[in-house]
Amino acid sequence: MVHNENNDAYSIKTINLAKSFRKKKHKGIFGFLKKGNQKEKLEKEVTVALDHVNLRIRTGELFGLLGPNGAGKTTLVKCLSTILIPDEGTAIINGFDIRKQTTLVRASLGMVIGGERTLYWKLTARDNLMYFASLYKMPRKRIKKRVDELLEAMNLLDRADERLEDYSTGMRQKVAIARALLHDPPVLLLDEPTLGLDPTFSRQIRNQIRELSKKEGKTVLLATHYMEEADELCDRIAIVNEGKIIAVGTSDELKAMVKETELVEVICYNPPQNAEEYLRTLCPDVEIVTVVRGEKEKGTPSRIKLIGGNAEKRIGTVVDALRKKNSQITSLNISVPTLEDVFIKLTGAKLTEGDGRGRDQ
Ligand SMILES: Nc1ncnc2c1ncn2[C@@H]1O[C@H](COP(=O)(O)OP(=O)(O)O)[C@@H](O)[C@H]1O
Ligand SMILES: [Mg+2]
Repeated sequence: MVHNENNDAYSIKTINLAKSFRKKKHKGIFGFLKKGNQKEKLEKEVTVALDHVNLRIRTGELFGLLGPNGAGKTTLVKCLSTILIPDEGTAIINGFDIRKQTTLVRASLGMVIGGERTLYWKLTARDNLMYFASLYKMPRKRIKKRVDELLEAMNLLDRADERLEDYSTGMRQKVAIARALLHDPPVLLLDEPTLGLDPTFSRQIRNQIRELSKKEGKTVLLATHYMEEADELCDRIAIVNEGKIIAVGTSDELKAMVKETELVEVICYNPPQNAEEYLRTLCPDVEIVTVVRGEKEKGTPSRIKLIGGNAEKRIGTVVDALRKKNSQITSLNISVPTLEDVFIKLTGAKLTEGDGRGRDQ
């Protein structure tokens, strides 16, 4: 493990980090027949993958980078891990500068980028880990012990001597995570660690990530396009879109941005005559109260909607109040905002659009 000397509260800091890619415009297969001057032929398309990103991730924090396909997540992770050199700005990892202290940065972090595809499928899980550990120049005895520890932690010991080609995708992904942990780095960069995995493996891997953060105190940057994953795991989340950080906060803080979408709907018979006024007084922070009266004789119930405020906190108050007035409640709907709602509010687009596969991911 590499210790930093400046006892900084932040294990990852990015300072105006910027990266663009230039690629030649595709002119189609008959492009060579098209007329155009020399300048036009050389015209290149520029994609701004990271647009001056400033992030501060606290030591020990499990920090999510949530954004759709193409948002720039993988590019950020690659810049932090020194695989890519940024065009502008820099980042400090564990106290070391990614531009000037590459070796120390690499020693400070473990990364899972592209996961299982970067392992040797013809080798066993154990041999893969032994090989990658040998690159860290650890003593052989220490390597053996560490590999066994990790195989056990990942629940792979009983199949450790099978080749990866006989493993499932989820098992190979576990090996990729084990590899990232070989040198016990204080910082972990995980790029879409559960991409394409079935729910059982996703759950196991998410639990593992939670443990690494909560029990081992690792600082984790988790890039994902799965909002449930970010919501469930992360202490704080940065929402990223088109290379920009558009919001940062805890899940609750982010959801508070769309609290107007919280809804409690009560379907009942015999609501009190002055239901609107009555509920408005009881729940002053609710923005809209509507009552659509049904007709009990015809079997159509009334529908009461309360929009805004905190729906989960509200539900008990509303039910109790209506019961007190002898209303018969037949059903309840409650909808709380998701990070998807936050994303839609901020960008006008859906988070889940696209196939979730960034380039090179
Ligand atoms: N090597 C590359 N060459 C050209 N464009 C790239 C390259 N890598 C990424 N991009 C582009 O940069 C943008 C961000 O990509 P990426 O960081 O992979 O996003 P994400 O991981 O959030 O899906 C995308 O528009 C992508 O097409
Ligand atoms: Mg990606």
